[in-house]
Amino acid sequence: MEKFIVKGRTPLSGRVKISGSKNSAVALLPAAVMTSETVCLENLPDITDVRTMIEILENLGVSIRRRGRDVLELTPGNLSKIAPSYELVKKMRASYYFMGSLLARFGQAEVPIPGGCDLGPRPIDQHLKGFTALGAAINIEHGMIKLSAKKLTGARIYLDVVSIGATVNMMLAAAAAEGRTVLENVAKEPEIVDLANFLNAMGASVKGAGTDVIRIDGTKSFKGAMHAVIPDRIEAGTFMMAAAATGGQVTVEDVIPKHLEAITAKIREIGGKVEVDPEKITVKWVSPLVPSDLKTFPYPGFPTDLQPPGMVLLTAAKGLSVITENVFDGRYNHVDELKRMGARIKVEGRTALIDGGAPLTGAPVAATDLRSGAALIIAALTADGESQISAVEHIDRGYDSFEQKLTGLGASIYRKNDESYDQQSGKVD
Ligand code: EPU
Repeated sequence: MEKFIVKGRTPLSGRVKISGSKNSAVALLPAAVMTSETVCLENLPDITDVRTMIEILENLGVSIRRRGRDVLELTPGNLSKIAPSYELVKKMRASYYFMGSLLARFGQAEVPIPGGCDLGPRPIDQHLKGFTALGAAINIEHGMIKLSAKKLTGARIYLDVVSIGATVNMMLAAAAAEGRTVLENVAKEPEIVDLANFLNAMGASVKGAGTDVIRIDGTKSFKGAMHAVIPDRIEAGTFMMAAAATGGQVTVEDVIPKHLEAITAKIREIGGKVEVDPEKITVKWVSPLVPSDLKTFPYPGFPTDLQPPGMVLLTAAKGLSVITENVFDGRYNHVDELKRMGARIKVEGRTALIDGGAPLTGAPVAATDLRSGAALIIAALTADGESQISAVEHIDRGYDSFEQKLTGLGASIYRKNDESYDQQSGKVD
């Protein structure tokens, strides 16, 4: 296990290239098994979630050829297994997308019940409701979800909650169902649009992605395709928050500014200067930050994945700010760690009250999930003295070359073996 050592009081400055989107990549890779022809995915981020996904695909029998750092050719022609490896699947929640894609290809799938980042309860009732509506029989036995369908048939499915995961799984299965499927109250995130574009390139007919209603006319034949993954708006937003929180100036490059409007607006509200160009955004600290309220919502609202970095930004603004987490029940694991650094934050249910402006001091802290880890690094960059952030494996899951990119912006951050990590309990002392 490793930890990051970060020296604080470093304003970030410079330009950083944003990698491909994690949450797109982990949906596109399982979708690739729906064809037996070769699929080429470009702009894949180099993160452990993508590496795990590639291992799962290889283990299923997909032949994979790497072309350069971020391009993969996948040929699922010889694929015959319907059950991805339990050991690999349990490492990442998004592997439950194989439910949708294997069901689409073979009419059968066996996937373990997913775990994932600890953000409070994460039910999958909407996924199961949708598969049932499309004609699949579902059995849950020994921790496995077993799905089978002699024939998938198009249906009208209304999601009770707006869920990215359920929208993805429904799109995958419905793309191969006979007849038309209408998905209502679906997620509108750019990653959903990216998946629709990829499926359409493979021969599917998916219309309406990016709106509340998606219409899919199923097909039996999927062909090979080439597709470039969209830029990671959460990675970009993390660097934008870090620029404002550290009092620096950072240009995030290779982004789609439209995907970042909620973040741009919030940073401006908090007092940061934001310049938007066609494929890049510059965030600059110009004057002391001001407190604000931040409410998370599905896209196009402020993303829950940027709530932890947003909290650090508000910690730097003198005065009272209020955060309301509307997407997950328990996404405040970073609060206790930020308090170790001197932040004044009180959590009541889904609301966090931040008494900002107290200078943070470096401390030993632990990442509890991917985005809390990113938030702790930003906090460490603003703090006085040195911080040690343990359990960096959470951060490696979703940030491509994070410390190299931060070093390029002038941060003092390096990785070290963490001798205090207890292999047996999985806890850091
Ligand atoms: N929900 C249900 N029933 C369901 C599915 C979801 O009640 O069947 C609820 C969840 O409990 C949650 C809400 O619906 O309260 C939204 O969950 P969603 O299904 O949209 O989340 P997800 O698909 O599991 C994805 C991202 C997360 C991101 C959330 C919310 C991927 C691989 N993961 O998770 O990303 O936080 O959407 O935007 O796309 C991250 O990148 O750090 C991360 C956790």
